[in-house]
Formats: sequence, C-alpha cells, structure tokens
Amino acid sequence: MGNVIILGSQWGDEGKGKIVDLFAERFDMVVRYQGGHNAGHTVFIGEKKFVLKLIPSGILRPGKQAVIGNGLVIDPAALLSEIATLESVGVPVSRNLFISTRAHVLFPAHRMMEKMSEGREGRVSIGTTSRGIGPCYEDKIARRGIRIADLLDTEFFRAQYDTIMAEKVTIARALGIDSELDLPAIRAEYEAFAERIRPMVCDTVSLLNQAIRDGKSILFEGAQGTMLDIDHGTYPFVTSSSASAGGACTGTGVAPTRIGGVLGVSKAYITRVGGGPFPTESFDEAGELIRQRGKEFGAVTGRPRRCGWFDVPLLRYTADINGFDSLCVTKLDVLDAFETIPVCVAYRIDGKEITGMPATVSEIARIQPVYEQMPGWNTSTFGISNYDELPAKAKEYIAFLERCTGVEVGCVSTGPERNQTIVRPGSKFEKLVG
Ligand code: GDP
Ligand code: IMO
Ligand code: MG
Repeated sequence: MGNVIILGSQWGDEGKGKIVDLFAERFDMVVRYQGGHNAGHTVFIGEKKFVLKLIPSGILRPGKQAVIGNGLVIDPAALLSEIATLESVGVPVSRNLFISTRAHVLFPAHRMMEKMSEGREGRVSIGTTSRGIGPCYEDKIARRGIRIADLLDTEFFRAQYDTIMAEKVTIARALGIDSELDLPAIRAEYEAFAERIRPMVCDTVSLLNQAIRDGKSILFEGAQGTMLDIDHGTYPFVTSSSASAGGACTGTGVAPTRIGGVLGVSKAYITRVGGGPFPTESFDEAGELIRQRGKEFGAVTGRPRRCGWFDVPLLRYTADINGFDSLCVTKLDVLDAFETIPVCVAYRIDGKEITGMPATVSEIARIQPVYEQMPGWNTSTFGISNYDELPAKAKEYIAFLERCTGVEVGCVSTGPERNQTIVRPGSKFEKLVG
C-alpha cells in the first residue's frame, strides 16, 4: 500500500480525526506534520470520546506507530498531559510514540507573547486558540527557536533558553507589559520534561524513510485546514504552519516522490472558528440549526463555530493546492433536517463573477456568493454505511458536489463513529486506503 495524506480542505474541524482513526488500521504508521496543540481531533470509539491534540489519531489503533514530525511545535506540558490522559484509559502511548528531534519546543513565554499581540490596540485580532503556536513558529523562522534535540542537551539548553528568554523579557518591558513568568522555575520544569520525553525522541526522518524502504505504509494526518495554511489561507486569519499537502513533506522529511495520494476531508457544509472572512456564513436560524445539529463548538477552546454552506469555489481552490485524488464528505447527517440546501457555486465581487480565490481579506469579505438551491432529503441518513441506502436526494447532493468541484467523493461520513462511514466501491478513495 502507498503512503497517503489525509487533510482538511476547509477551515479545520472537517472530521479529520475520525477519518484518520478509521483508516489508520490499514497503515503501519500515522504521522502528524504540522501545527501543535491548537488542533483538536475528536474520535469516538463506541461511547468513549478521545480528543487528540498533538498525538496522531493513529495512536488509538493497537500496534500502530505514531510519529510527531519535525514540522510541529510541541508544548511538553500539553504533550505529557495528553499522554497521561490516554494512558489512564489504557492506550499504551509511550511505547508507540516517536517524537522528532527537529520539532520545536513551545514555552509559556510564547503564550505570553501571543496574548500581548492579540490584545494590542490597532492590531487585528486573529482569534487564535491562545496556545502560543504563532510565536513559537516565529522563533523557528527567525532561527532562534529551541528544538527537541536542544532541550535534551542540558548544558546547551540552559544557555540557549536564558538568551532567548532575556530577549522576550526585554520586548515585554518595552511594550510596558509586566511578565509574571518565573523563568528559572520554567527552565527547571522543562529540564524535567526533557527526561520524561527523552525515551520517545528519535530521528524520525530516518525512522520514516527506513520504514518506507522496508515496504511499510504511512498515513500523514493534517491538522487545521487548507484555508488556515500560512501561505494559501485567508491571511492573516490563518495558523502559522503549512497545513496543506506540501507541508506533509517538509514537516516529516519524506519526499513528494514517496507519496501515493492525497485525500481531502470536507464537511457537507462549512465552519470556521476565530476571525476572518467567510463568504458563505449563515447568520440566520439555518446557521444556528447547523451549529446545534452538528454540535459545532470548538474541540480545543469550546468556542461556537461559525457555520455556513458548502463553498464550491473554495473547494476548487483547495483541490488545486493539494491535488486531491478523492474527497471524504463528512457530517452529511447534519443536513437531514433541511428542506433546501444552498450550495455556493460561484463568487461575485461588485456584481462581476470572479475566478480563483482573492488574495486579500478585504476582497474575500466583499464576495457575494452565488447560490444554487439543492432539494433536501428530509429523512435520517444518520449511521448509514452503504451508499445505495442513502436517500436519492442525498445522492444527488453528493453528485452535485462532485460535478461542481471536479473531485470524486469516495467517502461519506454519516455519524461520529467508525462504522458510520461509507467508502464507495471502486473509488480512488477505496484504492488509496486499501
Ligand atoms: P477535526 O479537527 O477535523 O478532527 O474535527 P473535530 O473533531 O474538531 O470536529 C468534528 C466533529 O464532528 C467531532 O465532534 C466528530 O466527532 C464529529 N463528526 C465527525 N464526522 C461526523 C459525521 O459524519 N456526523 C456527525 N454528526 N458528526 C461527525
Ligand atoms: P483542527 O486540527 C479550526 C484557527 C483558530 C484561529 C486561527 C489561528 O482541529 O482542525 P492558532 O492558535 O493556530 O494560531 O489560531 O486558526 N484554528 C483552528 N480552527 N480547527 C483547528 O484545528 C484550528 N487550529 C487553529 O481558531 O482562527
Ligand atoms: Mg478540530
């Protein structure tokens, strides 16, 4: 079997966790390639709910290896707490988890910097998850970040930590902010974290590439979504990493020539958490009905998610960026209660149809979506696992999305659980996940 990327095609929370967990069974390894504990990937196994933040969803499959790639930023406190939560319910994490020496370390000072910049007068608030992700990536790109390998090198770490933190304190003071961080105590805490994670740290580039040479298969798990990608998303209302398919290579050290396919995950509608333009957002009772039926509240911050209608031009754009072989459309069941379902098929600005995705948020905010009204099916699809059993109008809805986006819908999700999923026989999706 080949190596496959599964990632979000919208603004995150598409249901990647459920889909990765489901198909992880068919792969030997699951690797995360970007982001940090800003991600919240929910997996239901029967009544049991797991929310994975830093650890790949594949950890829930016995015997599978889970890898945290070099492209991530790791808050060791968050990681250790996630490990403890999983181990307390019997998931053997430490044995199966491998952490890259080259991933970056996130410190409380990064959260402080984020709070500072989000709250500053005159600065656009992104509505981040407040985890310090952006400032940690800032240090990475500025070439002053501390990596996991540095954290494990005690002497080197001490010196590096003191220099970088002194700089943060200077900035905080210059901005008139009283930092209450006890920096030496945090350093000691991180030295203790280092010893706890040391047994899981390794050269994951060698691990992954050797696995490929040995004929093993790897599933790459995206976090966030393509519209939150630092380059391709609705900048500056984005996250600070490469959430799209290209990030899977830079964030793991696996070459593009080793990737066998890319699968996109998309809701049957669309949501967004935090600030930024959202052309098909629904502000009326329909949006509220989606939120209630879809339980659209953030898995990390609990914030209500903004809800709206499926956006074809957006999907075409993210399909170009990622080269989707096939799509998984999730949460179809959430639309069971609608008489008609609007689908945005084109964008207009100032009355003129446009092609592609505008680069600026002011242009995106001015988009007038052109809707086509699709008939609803008004009957339950919840839990259906066979395509033929879907109501005719639900099949028409899916066929319409395929026609408009130009991408096959090879998988449909009809509920949060593993078995509430349809894989269409003969689809590219089926071929890629075995
Ligand atoms: P992720 O970040 O992409 O992994 O998605 P989240 O876990 O943040 O949000 C998706 C939510 O939808 C989770 O609560 C899932 O349990 C739930 N979910 C996933 N697929 C389906 C589905 O097909 N139907 C319903 N009703 N819920 C789903
Ligand atoms: P998963 O992996 C949805 C959003 C935040 C904010 C912006 C920047 O569960 O799909 P950050 O803290 O990353 O600097 O915030 O990105 N955001 C997400 N939205 N799902 C996520 O992850 C997200 N991770 C970040 O709300 O708008
Ligand atoms: Mg999520």
